[in-house]
Amino acid sequence: MGVKKIEKLWGGRFKKNINKEMEEFISSLSFDKKLVKHDLLGSIAHAQMLGKCKIINEEEKDKIVEGLKQILKEVQKGKIEIVNGEAEDIHSWVENKLKEKIGTIAGKLHTARSRNDQVALDERLYLKEEVQKIQDLLNDLQTSLLLIAEKNLDVIMPGYTHLQHAQPILFSHHLLAYFYKFNRDKGRMKDLFKRMDVLTLGSAALAGTSFPIDREYVAKELNFGMISENSLDAVSDRDFILEFLSTSAILMMHLSRLSEEIILWSSKEFNFIELDDSFCTGSSIMPQKKNPDAAELIRGKTGRVYGNLINLLIMMKALPLAYNHDMQEDKEPLFDTVSTLGKSLFLMSKMIETMQVNKEKMETSTKGDFSTATELADYLVKKGLSFREAHKLIGKIILYCLENKKSLEDLAISELKSFHKDFKEEIIEILKPHSAIEAKDSYGGTSLKRVKESIQKAKKIMEEK
Ligand code: ARG
Repeated sequence: MGVKKIEKLWGGRFKKNINKEMEEFISSLSFDKKLVKHDLLGSIAHAQMLGKCKIINEEEKDKIVEGLKQILKEVQKGKIEIVNGEAEDIHSWVENKLKEKIGTIAGKLHTARSRNDQVALDERLYLKEEVQKIQDLLNDLQTSLLLIAEKNLDVIMPGYTHLQHAQPILFSHHLLAYFYKFNRDKGRMKDLFKRMDVLTLGSAALAGTSFPIDREYVAKELNFGMISENSLDAVSDRDFILEFLSTSAILMMHLSRLSEEIILWSSKEFNFIELDDSFCTGSSIMPQKKNPDAAELIRGKTGRVYGNLINLLIMMKALPLAYNHDMQEDKEPLFDTVSTLGKSLFLMSKMIETMQVNKEKMETSTKGDFSTATELADYLVKKGLSFREAHKLIGKIILYCLENKKSLEDLAISELKSFHKDFKEEIIEILKPHSAIEAKDSYGGTSLKRVKESIQKAKKIMEEK
């Protein structure tokens, strides 16, 4: 039929050109070009190993390594652009470019290697870098939380359950709650890093290779702590991405909860904080509006990060060993999660750092809300009542207050005594929010002393990282 064959890495056994739509459909270059640096670094280490093991000769090795290094330099300086459609994927693109530079010797680079072990390597190299950046961003966020907690150490706010006033707490205690949530996220990142730190190159297509390669050498060159044990497992495994995506989903959930609180707190009804102008936008129609957009979008983008995890779990679930082309679909959810997480963490830490805390409003919100009712009950328990009896009696006092439009603070000692003879003058002081807070002196509680201790501990944790 006279159809001209175009160059493909696998073109040899084909008589016909690939169908145009098919070519577009299978191409991953538009997104896996993100891995160009890692593909080049992996290829350099591989070529060096081939030379060292005398699988290619010294001169061939030097030419290949030199060519790859030049491409790396040109890519990093923006001198070559990776144009969509130029190749099937980033691995083919690199090999084509190398051929343009050094001629047919380029074809020796792929000895003892397959794109299957290559892509697994590139993704691990990429993700190891990104996880470290995410850990740095988590550190920044934890530092911002500590900074604002320390600055507002003794600010009182209502603590909530069911979004109803429950018991007064310190605002710093609330911020520290997030510090510890993010600390667990950081721990999970650190943990998954260990399982990602495994060299897969050298597994070749699925069965290993008949060439006398040196995997230890490549692992050292590329700074991997371990070498994969089973070639079939190595090319078919995407657990390391799934672990990252699930840890990211949990982390986004924490960011989303904090966002939700920021959105509530900056509403007129709460008015606990004011966000800095630089992290808000206005309305095109209502001139008075100042919207907490960054927080809303972090909350909103949590959905796509969850989606990315589910996407990959479903894509992987019925794949027979070893490599299947389905697995090319792992990249977009991975890249999207990395970028969403990075931006969300950065903005959250800036938002926290720059927000104004409305101490008076927080504190006055704890007045007249019955949130010290538990103190009344505890008081009677200390006088010998069972907690159940005390709880019932305080319930009656609350009812009395509601019927007479009074708050607990309005009650005279004589009124309290009419409910129980053991109420003494001291109860008036005990009922105040700051006394209630001071009384919560159990380990991990909200008393000023405990929170101060907790901040010191948090600072130590930050030094250990
Ligand atoms: N672009 C492919 C991917 O991302 C690379 C591996 C291709 N291997 C193959 N045998 N077609 O998964």
